[in-house]
Amino acid sequence: MPIHGVAPSAKPSHPPHFDLESVIRPNILALHPYRCARDDYQSGILLDANENALGPAIPQAALDREDIELDLHRYPDPAQIDIKSRIAKLRNLPGWEYVFLGVGSDEVLDLLMRVCCTPAKDKVLTTPPTYGMYAVCGQVNDVALVKVPLVVEGGAFQLDLPKMKTALESDPSIKMVFLCSPGNPTGTLIPLPDIRDILELPAFHGIVVVDEAYIDFAGEDASASSLVEKYANLCVMQTLSKSFGLAAIRLGIALAQPPLIQVLSNTKAPYNIGTPSAHLALSALSDEALDLMRQKVATLVASRTQLLEELKELAPLGLAPAIGGNHANFLLVRVLTRGTGKPDSPRAQKIYTHMAEKEGVVVRYRGNEFGCEGCLRITIGSEGENKSLVQRLRQTMAEI
Ligand SMILES: Cc1ncc(COP(=O)(O)O)c(C=O)c1O
Repeated sequence: MPIHGVAPSAKPSHPPHFDLESVIRPNILALHPYRCARDDYQSGILLDANENALGPAIPQAALDREDIELDLHRYPDPAQIDIKSRIAKLRNLPGWEYVFLGVGSDEVLDLLMRVCCTPAKDKVLTTPPTYGMYAVCGQVNDVALVKVPLVVEGGAFQLDLPKMKTALESDPSIKMVFLCSPGNPTGTLIPLPDIRDILELPAFHGIVVVDEAYIDFAGEDASASSLVEKYANLCVMQTLSKSFGLAAIRLGIALAQPPLIQVLSNTKAPYNIGTPSAHLALSALSDEALDLMRQKVATLVASRTQLLEELKELAPLGLAPAIGGNHANFLLVRVLTRGTGKPDSPRAQKIYTHMAEKEGVVVRYRGNEFGCEGCLRITIGSEGENKSLVQRLRQTMAEI
């Protein structure tokens, strides 16, 4: 069955073992997307969408302070082609047809799972320790998880390729593989050749999703977006929440070949990206704003290096050197029982609580995650915040 909105292509897709139409649920393939009013017309005397013709119920003075003309009483543009075009250019993809926008990457994740996985039947493969939303999303959609843990020894946090291959070869109900690169909470990049190995695995007919929420902190050429043009079975998720500093606008991104993007577009809620968010996203993707984003990323990366050094000074208090690749805007550090060199989750949890409640510095306890015994995840802050963190952590670890 053809996908609505996708013209038949004479060109065979790669890899040859992949057929998108056999991965997408039949009810989604058969879907005729809801056609909303703004799909048809965006200007004129708009009496087609039951909007409020008198404008938003916010005092004009308050709107003037915002200094923006947003037509807030109108439904937003359902296609957002300008934003998609700028993202495609930024990520070296041929055009907007390779880009889907969601309400944060969390919406993209949920949508991917819904279009591919039949509840109570299909499964997804995850590689713990990893981002917690994959499991939550699986539970919400009644999609079981097959877990193939990362190789965690020595804080390597790399894919266990032989075990992943065995799992994928032995269970055809696995429709998607979720890889997080750089990982959360591992902070570690997955090398592109490893991702390619999974993409090329003939026995796996599903989609490989690479979650790159933190990719801009990992340096040039680290992104799997460079593989999108070649692989029809790849979907790269990105977001404006991290490197762009725009978590509040909820703008998530999927990069994939046009047929999969079309499936996501057919399935999404008609007006998922609000006009204020779209306006800010477009500004954030101007050449000038991209320079600023890169400067801020460079500052955070330099602070990351500095914080790594400063935290080494807490070794006598039982803080082990950071583990993982440190490729994101956070560090994963391990708290030890003093004198023994053993990871100490109860101590880490006490330190975490004391820091939040008595010192006013909130980090994240990750000691319950596989391979992360005794671990705290610390986001890189501003210069002043990092100073406070080190000072208060030193004080807390001296007491606990
Ligand atoms: C790995 C990973 N993916 C996705 C997200 C969510 O991103 P968004 O804000 O775009 O929903 C996060 C947020 O912390 C994350 O760590």
